[in-house]
Amino acid sequence: MLLPPGQSSNAGPAASNVRSPGSCTGSEAGATPARPACAASWIVDLFVHTVCLLVASKASDKESLISASAGAIFPGIIQQYRHAAECAQRAGFDGVEVHSANSYLLDQFLRDSTNQRGDKYGGNIENRSRLTLEVTAAVVEVWGHNRVGIRLSPVTPDAGNTPLDSQVMQTYGHLIEQLNRFHLAYMHFIEGATATSRSVPDGVDLDALRARFKGAYIGNNNYDLNLAVNRRAEGNVDAVAFGRPFIANPDLVRRLKEGAELAVAPRETYYGNGAKGYTDWPVLAG
Ligand SMILES: Cc1cc2nc3c(=O)[nH]c(=O)nc-3n(C[C@H](O)[C@H](O)[C@H](O)COP(=O)(O)O)c2cc1C
Repeated sequence: MLLPPGQSSNAGPAASNVRSPGSCTGSEAGATPARPACAASWIVDLFVHTVCLLVASKASDKESLISASAGAIFPGIIQQYRHAAECAQRAGFDGVEVHSANSYLLDQFLRDSTNQRGDKYGGNIENRSRLTLEVTAAVVEVWGHNRVGIRLSPVTPDAGNTPLDSQVMQTYGHLIEQLNRFHLAYMHFIEGATATSRSVPDGVDLDALRARFKGAYIGNNNYDLNLAVNRRAEGNVDAVAFGRPFIANPDLVRRLKEGAELAVAPRETYYGNGAKGYTDWPVLAG
């Protein structure tokens, strides 16, 4: 990550991601996940972004679109996010990031493509935003507003080739306006399709959406050093998050500073199959 001037780029703060995959998980996770369309049991996991194990096998689209009405699960879901936030505190993190991205549980509630509930967590934009806002409120209660960030990915089809919301600007715009009342540490966008492309559909302007947030903004997705420097210079980002480049370059910040060549991790080693090719990349000599 490129940090704002004056902050150390070697020992930056570590934020843990609190998330639930919702429909984006399979039976190997050991529990039936919560879904925006069917009342079920749920799982929440605590995720350390830099040592990430992503279980993203997806439930079928059909399954995730079943209508449901029961609302009794919501206090439990919110309590689990709170619990995850408390665990992150005990584990010594510097903050947490509410994961409302990548078509996981909170994003599934946001999108009208996946949320077909008829209760106060479904239907209009206000209702579809409710769960993300309630989870954020709970996590802020644990950590304080300046230790909590939020991750959104308004136009990614990942995970599971999930259809986008039919009104991206309105839905995420409303959510961002509401998030402003928490005075969060930052908002973090995956700009485009996660780890695939930076293009966005016609009618979507992520910079315009980002401008509605009254706090620090982190951009992510397919950045290289030039793009990061340019977008920062243009005032479009306050910081940039790098994902894949960190896998094969554990000393990425140093390499970027020194203009050193970057190693590229093969895709096959991203998920599972042990450390080889994933966490065993060497740092530069000297
Ligand atoms: C192996 C791997 C695991 C990932 N796990 C997660 C995850 O659990 N949650 C998440 O929001 N993004 C996850 N991502 C997406 C990254 O955080 C990031 O958004 C994406 O790689 C695009 O950034 P990049 O182009 O700098 O790699 C993962 C990416 C990779 C390659």
